[in-house]
Amino acid sequence: HHTIMADQGDWSCDANDAVQISIVQPGDQKLVTADLFHPQFTYSIFGDEEQIFGYKGLIVRLRFAAHDLRTQVHISYDEKFKAVGDAAATDLNKTLRDWIPEFAFTRLPDYEKAVQNDESAKDFVPPGKLVHSYESKNRNYEIWAGSLADPAVCNLLARAQVFVPFFIEAGTPLVLDDPEWTLERWTVYFVYERITPPTPKASKYLFVGYSTTYRWWFYPKQKGEKGAVKDDIFPYPEEIRFSTLPSRLRIAQFLILPSHQGAGHGSLLYNTIHKATIADDTVTEITVEDPNEAFDVLRDSADYHTLYPELMKQDININPNPYPADAGKRRPRNVPTSTLIPTEKLSKIRSQYKIAPTQFAHILEMFLLKRIP
Ligand code: ACO
Repeated sequence: HHTIMADQGDWSCDANDAVQISIVQPGDQKLVTADLFHPQFTYSIFGDEEQIFGYKGLIVRLRFAAHDLRTQVHISYDEKFKAVGDAAATDLNKTLRDWIPEFAFTRLPDYEKAVQNDESAKDFVPPGKLVHSYESKNRNYEIWAGSLADPAVCNLLARAQVFVPFFIEAGTPLVLDDPEWTLERWTVYFVYERITPPTPKASKYLFVGYSTTYRWWFYPKQKGEKGAVKDDIFPYPEEIRFSTLPSRLRIAQFLILPSHQGAGHGSLLYNTIHKATIADDTVTEITVEDPNEAFDVLRDSADYHTLYPELMKQDININPNPYPADAGKRRPRNVPTSTLIPTEKLSKIRSQYKIAPTQFAHILEMFLLKRIP
């Protein structure tokens, strides 16, 4: 028994090491790897221990074409454990299929040929509309946005969200075969770098990251009813276009690929989504679904920078003398908040910038603390 246990130890490997993600482009003769990185998480696929049992020299290689993210999964190993009793090697094909869409399980030579000889790559433009372009460290980037009801957006997202279990903790990929009126609620943002293509046939675009957002609408007021907010309002009258309903915008998935992290792309993507929210008369505020710590940092920093000039301009400060001059010793224990800070003014700023109340209070606190002499 002991010897089998010891052997089993040797047959286990770290799933985060075994999985290799690569971004590929056509080269002169064959595909070249533009980027190679490991996942941050694999627990949703391989269990909390993030271990794979039963292989030596295992590599689960996920390839993505740089521009359109055409995906392929390829498994290789030196040796596979021969089942003893209950102990058997992890069934990789079966385990992976719960998380990686069927389209990724093509033969490697077919995939290589398709990407290498893709005649349309050189003319590729990201789906949707160009909503922002910027330069950073002498490199050019573009943010594109489109409705999930657009099949080109939907197809690209189907590939992009293969990244979800590997990088977004507790994230789940979107179900993409929902009816059109549901897909219409979603806008997807894609960040791309404009590059000099490695060959004349290759694409000028390199995928950097993406975000999905959806409308979380307010229940329309019935005649005479107060504007109560109800979130669970299915079934919804289908004849109403969601894009015209007063709603909140919610950011769902948000990802910048590892080699591009920490360079400001996340902040710029968030600001672009925020600006679109401000410009859209039907959206009242921007919210985020299950943000992690890193995203909270990004959001705080971005919102602070957005609000700072406005809060300064309107000279928002704590009233140093909230008590009437003649209050003497009979000072009230509690003064109304509006005596301490200009709540009405603040409420206007909040709705103008469409920041959710808790987040706004948080940013305001940061701002006021900084103003204490
Ligand atoms: N941990 C803590 N803070 C971080 C991290 C991190 N891993 N990465 C960036 N930050 C901070 C930076 O210090 C910066 O703050 P500053 O402006 O005060 O210096 C701020 O966040 C923004 O930095 P950017 O360079 O704009 O951020 P980046 O482009 O790297 O994007 C993101 C940040 C989205 C978290 C990216 O690292 C990522 O995609 N990570 C993996 C996936 C993930 O965690 N997504 C968010 C899940 S929550 C959701 O989906 C709603």
